[in-house]
Amino acid sequence: MNILITGGAGFIGSNFTTYWANKYTNDDIVVYDKLTYAGNIENLKELFDNPKFSFVEGDIVDGELFEKTIVDHEVNTIVHFAAETHVDRSIEGPEAFVHTNIMGTFRILEVLRKYPAIRFHHISTDEVFGELPLDDPNAKFSETTAYDPRSPYSASKAASDHLVRAYVNTYKIKATISNCSNNYGPYCFPEKLIPLTITRAINNQEIPVYGDGMQVRDWIHVDDHCLGVDLILEKGKLGETYILGGHGEKPNIYIVKEILKLLSKPESLIVHVGDRKGHDKRYAMDFTKAKNELGFEPQKPLEKRLEETVQWYVDNQDWWAPLKAEGDRIAEGYLRNRI
Ligand SMILES: NC(=O)c1ccc[n+]([C@@H]2O[C@H](COP(=O)([O-])OP(=O)(O)OC[C@H]3O[C@@H](n4cnc5c(N)ncnc54)[C@H](O)[C@@H]3O)[C@@H](O)[C@H]2O)c1
Repeated sequence: MNILITGGAGFIGSNFTTYWANKYTNDDIVVYDKLTYAGNIENLKELFDNPKFSFVEGDIVDGELFEKTIVDHEVNTIVHFAAETHVDRSIEGPEAFVHTNIMGTFRILEVLRKYPAIRFHHISTDEVFGELPLDDPNAKFSETTAYDPRSPYSASKAASDHLVRAYVNTYKIKATISNCSNNYGPYCFPEKLIPLTITRAINNQEIPVYGDGMQVRDWIHVDDHCLGVDLILEKGKLGETYILGGHGEKPNIYIVKEILKLLSKPESLIVHVGDRKGHDKRYAMDFTKAKNELGFEPQKPLEKRLEETVQWYVDNQDWWAPLKAEGDRIAEGYLRNRI
């Protein structure tokens, strides 16, 4: 297989690229990435000496360069991770989200119209479904849940999902989609809840928590997300969507307190701050379809994975130290709004 991975220098994309290179050693892999603040070529350092791996710095909105890369590398499979991904940044400045998530996906789809034999997998998010109530623990998102995006980020991802489905229906491109819940694990930029909490706790800095911290997310370890995408490429039906979750439904405050416990740090580091505008209360995933059709199942419990993740950040301070100023800038913004 000649596989192209967009956004392969970001958090999930780089984990997926390394996963793929280690598992499918005969495949040629090309990462196509713009290297925004969230893209870091160092995430792929394990592969620098691998002759089957190559990297192209490029914007997915640049359809010409994207097409040239497909042709030059004789690509037959594309996994599309590239996106602007931080909800708070989308609230501050939505334009980059429209540019990359909507226009970028559109340009890729236009290239696919010309190369209809290429297998395409589009990575999406649970956030397209809006929010679930806190007082109905049985309510979960499934493949049939109606879209109800509530932030510029989720609206841009929803638009890209609709475009992919439209191209499947209209132009018969060979595509699948997955909607996954919140990821955590190595190489996550320290602006997102788990790495922000870990890196600031290690340095004994205050940890901002939105509102009462009772917003519930279904946390999935990035390795389980990679496994889910691998199974979709292997066994997924063309044109179908698959929900991927982690059995990791927990409120944010629980996650923060677990991290503090693992690092032997006091809960007094927690500072409650004004809630995010339009903050979704709860996400939860019903991934019965992925389980029954693909055999997908998260491999380890959340507590074990969280422990491993904390240890990874403890052991890899060289990786996150140069990125920490940006995480701190974001955290200081939240802390100006303490309650
Ligand atoms: N992080 C999560 O919890 C989560 C959950 C569900 C779905 N997703 C989806 O998974 C995908 C990857 O998320 P992530 O957290 O790894 O993101 P990330 O922000 O860590 O990485 C995004 C990558 O895309 C690249 N990129 C951005 N704009 C680009 C452009 N115009 N052209 C080419 N490359 C560009 C960046 O340089 C970066 O390497 C996204 O599509 C996201 O919506 C993420």
